[in-house]
Amino acid sequence: MIGVFDSGLGGLSVLAAIARSLPLTDLVYFADTAHVPYGDRDDTFIRQRVLRIGHHLADSGCRQIVVACNTATAAAVAVLRESLPEIPVVGIEPGVKPAVAASKSGRIAVLTTPSTARSERLARLIRQHAKNTHVDVLPCPGWATRVETLNLSDADFAAAARRHLEPALEAGADQIVLGCTHYSFLSPVLEPIATGRAALVDVANAVARQCVRLAHSSQGASGRLTLLASAHPERLQASFPVLGLSHLAPRLAGPARLVTA
Ligand code: DGL
Repeated sequence: MIGVFDSGLGGLSVLAAIARSLPLTDLVYFADTAHVPYGDRDDTFIRQRVLRIGHHLADSGCRQIVVACNTATAAAVAVLRESLPEIPVVGIEPGVKPAVAASKSGRIAVLTTPSTARSERLARLIRQHAKNTHVDVLPCPGWATRVETLNLSDADFAAAARRHLEPALEAGADQIVLGCTHYSFLSPVLEPIATGRAALVDVANAVARQCVRLAHSSQGASGRLTLLASAHPERLQASFPVLGLSHLAPRLAGPARLVTA
């Protein structure tokens, strides 16, 4: 069984990729909806939440844990690995490396939460993989919350997103990295802005490939999906049709449950 978690709905974009790659593996998804968004929190708070949730998933029988959140990975994947040495922990980081490889203009933009934007981990990733590429890091406050409210196609937001991206696109950025798992669900708004100028870079499938490499045998499992949330579990399930995830509904083991981890 693989445990996947995020502050809220964003990690469902990663869960969908994992579910596609491992159709027979049992999956648990934990949304920390009582504490979303993480992107405005300090590192100490995020570390506490990551340790609590990681241990809850491990105690529930997960043999692999996926931190489906760039913010939580940047702040806390190292402490979670230290704290659960016997369990493989997969994190997610903005796709700077693939974006640099694909860029023809030598300029890319990375969209992240405020917390990820100021993290040492992102700075290191850029130093390692973008030596000769100009990187515009664009914090996007409020965007994850917009996904949480399922208010995805509001005209004012589309206009604000265009204004936010325009300077980097004008300057020649030809890759837009979705450096927060929530932003995958904003692709319908971001695609028309980027079209003809830049590609959106999402690493959910790369994370799923890593899960496949680390996966134990799924013998005895049946591909069931359990949904847990620290607040409003019913909203987690209700988001599936809006987020284009209805195909996952047949895997549900039952209604989403409230967990006070
Ligand atoms: N989905 C998360 C990420 O990938 C965090 C969003 C938030 O809670 O601010 O960064």
